[in-house]
Amino acid sequence: MNTKINIAIDGYSATGKSSTAKRVAKKLGYLYVDSGAMYRAVTFYLLENGVDIHDVAKVVEALPKIIIDFRYDHAEQRMHTFLNGEDVEDDIRQLHVSQWVSEVSAISEVRKVMVQQQQALGKNKGVVMDGRDIGTVVFPEAELKFFMTANYDIRTVRRKKELLEKGKEASEREILENLKKRDHIDSTREDSPLTKAADAIEIDTSNITLEDQVNLIYDYAMRKTNSI
Ligand code: CDP
Repeated sequence: MNTKINIAIDGYSATGKSSTAKRVAKKLGYLYVDSGAMYRAVTFYLLENGVDIHDVAKVVEALPKIIIDFRYDHAEQRMHTFLNGEDVEDDIRQLHVSQWVSEVSAISEVRKVMVQQQQALGKNKGVVMDGRDIGTVVFPEAELKFFMTANYDIRTVRRKKELLEKGKEASEREILENLKKRDHIDSTREDSPLTKAADAIEIDTSNITLEDQVNLIYDYAMRKTNSI
């Protein structure tokens, strides 16, 4: 038997969630969904359109105007995030967006709309989704859940490298401050705080390679699908 399952990967920023989730999905022939990209796209829209993110009424008014979808870029062999039909994949990764995204994603009305879309994407199973609340709120019934951590030094280095690959410079100090600030907001917000689901498997990625992370999760997935 090879029944499809949903795999939730939650954890802190720059712990390797997205890179791992993407590769696991590819190996399994599953759909990869980057839920953080959706919150980033909303934030980018609000910033671009001068919507005050502290004015919840204005943010709610803007929500119906924000259409997010993911399209596969065959040349680059990776998913790109589209906002109202435009490719914003690189724009949403800027530190400027990272600086506001946790405030935006703490707004319950924003979460409600995003979670509905995420649940719709996973309703037929066969999805690997990474984020902060996937195992706790979006797919509490996911067959497999992981929670990724890593130390701050490693996370800072990884994020710097990632930004440089996209041609964006940021100092280590700026990056570290942003990671700490987001950890704090994400973990202490009232709605769906970042927390490890009781049944999630914790992986500290500080000292393991990306390949090992991918294989570890892939092996769990194979065992799970073969046992269903
Ligand atoms: O790429 P990085 O790990 O830095 O973060 P991300 O996954 O792109 O998520 C950006 C931000 O979106 C997080 O810091 C959270 O504030 C928010 N987020 C969330 O609230 N819930 C999710 N399921 C995913 C992201």
